[in-house]
Amino acid sequence: MIDPFGRAITYLRISVTDRCDFRCVYCMAEDMTFLPKRDLLTLEELDRLSTAFIDKGVRKLRLTGGEPLVRRNIMHLIRSLSRHLETGALEELTITTNGSQLERFASELADCGVKRINVSLDTLDPDKFKAITRWGDFAKVMAGIKAAQAAGIRVKLNAVALKGFNDDEIPAMLEWAHGEGMDLTLIETMPLGEIDGDRTDQYLPLSAVRARLSERFTLTDIPYKTGGPARYVEVAETGGRLGFITPLTHNFCESCNRVRLTCTGTLYMCLGQEDAADLRGPLRASEGNELLSNAIDEAIGRKPKGHDFIIDRETRRPAVSRHMSVTGG
Ligand code: GTP
Ligand code: 5AD
Ligand code: SF4
Repeated sequence: MIDPFGRAITYLRISVTDRCDFRCVYCMAEDMTFLPKRDLLTLEELDRLSTAFIDKGVRKLRLTGGEPLVRRNIMHLIRSLSRHLETGALEELTITTNGSQLERFASELADCGVKRINVSLDTLDPDKFKAITRWGDFAKVMAGIKAAQAAGIRVKLNAVALKGFNDDEIPAMLEWAHGEGMDLTLIETMPLGEIDGDRTDQYLPLSAVRARLSERFTLTDIPYKTGGPARYVEVAETGGRLGFITPLTHNFCESCNRVRLTCTGTLYMCLGQEDAADLRGPLRASEGNELLSNAIDEAIGRKPKGHDFIIDRETRRPAVSRHMSVTGG
């Protein structure tokens, strides 16, 4: 699949549920209304859709949410999708998770061929963790990370950089993550959906974070690539890798290789745009995949050049009104 700007689409992110057992303050309002369960695609339908994308050239599949591991019977889907790893059609099957359910699922994930996962963790301070996730349990996440590592899965930590919240903790997080054999990726907070606070108060450009880190650590750009948007440096003092995801200060849209599917079968061609395509209709309209395949081609043909992450100065509202949990980042 090649989009109008010549980019090959090889990475599909699927949000398998919009629900989450946390309520991170930058991601959700506390009283979120979730989709009624009857609107969700079944696991069989998600499998069929994923397989259609793999047939069309997707090589990397990441399940997200909400929290992917809270979707009922999610391991059925992951086990079923792992057949594409066995045939070699798929290069990577993985998840982005908040870690809360990892202790329970780690060994099964490893058994399904999941080699590397990303865990969202914005602080190492249990009290701050409670404050940022509202509902999260720090000890459970730590146990989950350990269980994943014990099962032989490599863990990368994702931390959203938030002004006045974790900026002073980033050096400690970096040393801890690298000491435990994990990469750490920092993310600029993106204005997606309304939350309880004002997003402009939280925003911290990673260019500033990098400059501060450089006073203490020796950072060297490296060509390491995962297929995701992060740019990596190696940290000489720790020997570990640090990634920067900078949608606002250093746009990476020109090398975009991904599209995202929601749990209701809507395909978003860009995280930072409203335009979307319905795939549930063509999926359900026929048992064969021709209609679906045409709908996917049509959607890829409309993939925009880049995102539209702006906050209206007057209303303080984000230009993109849906929450991150709809598309899973
Ligand atoms: P790797 O396979 O480890 O590279 O993972 P990844 O970075 O592709 O996935 P992950 O789920 O860990 O995403 C990390 C962050 O990157 C999330 O906050 C996503 O929202 C963000 N992200 C991923 N793709 C895009 C993108 O196309 N545009 C923007 N703006 N952000 C993205
Ligand atoms: N901006 C940036 N990252 C976000 N995430 C959730 N909401 C936002 C946002 N508004 C992150 C989570 C997780 C990843 C999938 O997206 O922390 O690491
Ligand atoms: Fe849940 Fe992830 Fe959103 Fe936090 S950022 S509320 S863990 S979906």
